[in-house]
Amino acid sequence: MPFRSRYTGLIDTYRDRLPVHDDTRIISLGEGNTPLIRLNNIPGFLEAEIDIYVKFEGLNPTGSFKDRGMTMAVTKAVEEGSEAIICASTGNTSASAAAYAARAGIKAFVLIPDGKIALGKLAQAMMHGATVIQIKGNFDVGMQLVKDITGHAPVTIVNSINPYRLQGQKTAAFEILEELGCAPDYHCIPVGNAGNITAHWMGYKEYNEHGIVNSLPVMVGYQASGSAPFMRGAMVDAPETVATAIRIGHPQSWDKAWATQKESKGWFDECSDQEILAAQKMLADREGVFCEPASAASLAGMIKDVKSGKIPAGSKIVCTLTGNGIKDPDTAIKQCRAPLQSVEATLDAVKRAILDNI
Ligand code: F0G
Repeated sequence: MPFRSRYTGLIDTYRDRLPVHDDTRIISLGEGNTPLIRLNNIPGFLEAEIDIYVKFEGLNPTGSFKDRGMTMAVTKAVEEGSEAIICASTGNTSASAAAYAARAGIKAFVLIPDGKIALGKLAQAMMHGATVIQIKGNFDVGMQLVKDITGHAPVTIVNSINPYRLQGQKTAAFEILEELGCAPDYHCIPVGNAGNITAHWMGYKEYNEHGIVNSLPVMVGYQASGSAPFMRGAMVDAPETVATAIRIGHPQSWDKAWATQKESKGWFDECSDQEILAAQKMLADREGVFCEPASAASLAGMIKDVKSGKIPAGSKIVCTLTGNGIKDPDTAIKQCRAPLQSVEATLDAVKRAILDNI
């Protein structure tokens, strides 16, 4: 029987485009190669002549796009002799750092805002054996502490200010270009620290500079209204949103993201929590794709821009779905119809429950 070649992660796949050597020990969990799903039902529902794809990064090994950056950051940390990594996180980075540290056999320290991360993400960091430090402050405060601590403790920062993170994350753009054969007209993406929008733009530009393709997308970044420094044109000191993953007021890649917006002739926009949750539910209901609230900001924003005509008819659009909905069951359950309660365990009762709801 012929063997199918086995996918062994994005560093193996894009070795010639990443800063690794032949003898580098790769720390991988098989990340990348995520599905680009064409939406079947939502375009019709929007009554818009558009072609929408979602890049479901929630299907990475720890359930978010962070794994793309983390495989690179932890591989390089180990190569450089580091025995411990540290990050501040709204949840996903901590889950990813914890998993890749476990894989590498090194320690992970994660700073998270007290009570403000989704339950699944906390469970991940704890299960992978990270030292979880819950601080009485938000992500931005944690990020500053992580920057300050490095002179005082032997730890490597694996937040997206570590340049290897963006190197890994740029591969998502490579995959999209390879699959579509060209760039989408618009790439819509949620923005927190703005590392991911920056990394995608790097990836798109790199394939163009090497003559692999000759097309670039317009990059559109969406923030939650209560945490939208790019819309305010200034840092936000007390960010709030139901989309806890992007509850960030002081983005670390501020200048790079503005450069991305200008170079790609794109824009930033904001979505209310209500719009974000409605888009998350719509995607789950109508397409069978369950992403986390922060991820749905890309869809919510895109829908508004299609309705207003800012994204014109005939466009090909990719929305990045950054994380998996299973990570945040509390927020999901709150917006759903309750299960039918206390149904007798009899054929009759179950039959009635079905016929009443068909
Ligand atoms: N979506 C999700 C699900 C995220 O977890 C994050 C960031 C973003 C979007 C924003 O990406 O920061 O590159 O603009 N989460 C970080 C964390 C901050 O700690 O997990 P960005």
